[in-house]
Amino acid sequence: MTGRFAISTGDTLAVDGGAHTRDPLEFHRKLPGYRPTPLLTAPSLATSLGVAEVLVKDESSRLGLPAFKILGASWAAYRAVVDRLGGEIEPWSTVAELAERVTSLKPFKLAAATDGNHGRAVARMAALMGFDADIYVPAGTAQARVDGIDSEGASCTVVDGNYDDAIARSAKEAGERCLVISDTSWPGYVDIPTWVIEGYGSILWEVEDQLAERGDATPDIVVVQMGVGALAAAVCGHYRRADAPSRPRLLGVEPLSADCILESVEAGEITTIDSAQDSIMAGLNCGTPSLLAWPLVSTAIDVYVAVDDDRAREGMRQLASAGVVAGETGAAGLAGLIELTQSADAEPARKALGLDESSRVLVLSTEGATDPEAYEQIVGRPQQAVASSSVPTT
Ligand SMILES: Cc1ncc(COP(=O)(O)O)c(C=O)c1O
Repeated sequence: MTGRFAISTGDTLAVDGGAHTRDPLEFHRKLPGYRPTPLLTAPSLATSLGVAEVLVKDESSRLGLPAFKILGASWAAYRAVVDRLGGEIEPWSTVAELAERVTSLKPFKLAAATDGNHGRAVARMAALMGFDADIYVPAGTAQARVDGIDSEGASCTVVDGNYDDAIARSAKEAGERCLVISDTSWPGYVDIPTWVIEGYGSILWEVEDQLAERGDATPDIVVVQMGVGALAAAVCGHYRRADAPSRPRLLGVEPLSADCILESVEAGEITTIDSAQDSIMAGLNCGTPSLLAWPLVSTAIDVYVAVDDDRAREGMRQLASAGVVAGETGAAGLAGLIELTQSADAEPARKALGLDESSRVLVLSTEGATDPEAYEQIVGRPQQAVASSSVPTT
């Protein structure tokens, strides 16, 4: 089993993370079923990894969906729709009221490309606002993920190609009666992915509030999995904002077969990779970093690691033993941390992160069992059995 590492050469702690407000969190609080996701302490993981504490932010159930992505999709769709209506709508306090405020746009739809989670989240948000949704997925997307999108009442089209091809296909839908809600950006397409990143920030504000409630400090190291890098940009922005109480070191994790950020960092510029992008970490099967995420992820992350699928499986099992249901992509962050603690080649990377037995590490478990059959095969138990074994969390 081999991982690949890159260590930042710049002063990552000095990076200016830009503005970072709680507005998206205020918005999310008005969505049906909102509550902060659990932040749990996993002593068994800390022991097996040889660190002082492992904190896990468990995104397996977020606003009724099995991944964190609805945080970005909902805020971006909302902001884009308000923008389409001229920049302002009457105040609202429930989603039913919001749907009334935006009804003049109908017939209207939202379109998106996805490897599963983002598209399902866009479809959910479209339905909440009373719009249609067209979602495009790459060839080979697991049927369970397609079914998840269908279950939101969206039309789901399998594109003959990879994630980048699905993006290109969805972008063609943009028009007077359709907004494309993409989580990645390209020249001329910046506002919506900016709002997606802002929306992801709610995870980090919740962590901050949950730690403050317990009287705990910011962790020393934060681990984030990276597809196009939008979630990682939210992490960088949050922990490098001017008034951050402290600045943890950051570890970014990708699959070996889709390590477009690591490759780009090594090349010193955004690079599209031509590998298969066929990892079981489906949410991370991306070939090109987001243009918008790039300035932050290329400067604020201390160590980049690429891991193989066996590490992701190991991460899923270890999270399951701590009572957390994490799908392949959800466990990728922990997989990166395992790689760093286990690999003989990782000493320079551990040093760059300051990773040792005194470290307190935050891992984002970004999805639940989005492919339940594969989950049971890998973990050896169905997700329900893992969830019911879960230890008390806050
Ligand atoms: C569960 C999960 N985690 C992490 C990511 C990575 O997010 P990003 O593409 O913003 O890097 C994704 C992307 O789809 C995802 O679905």
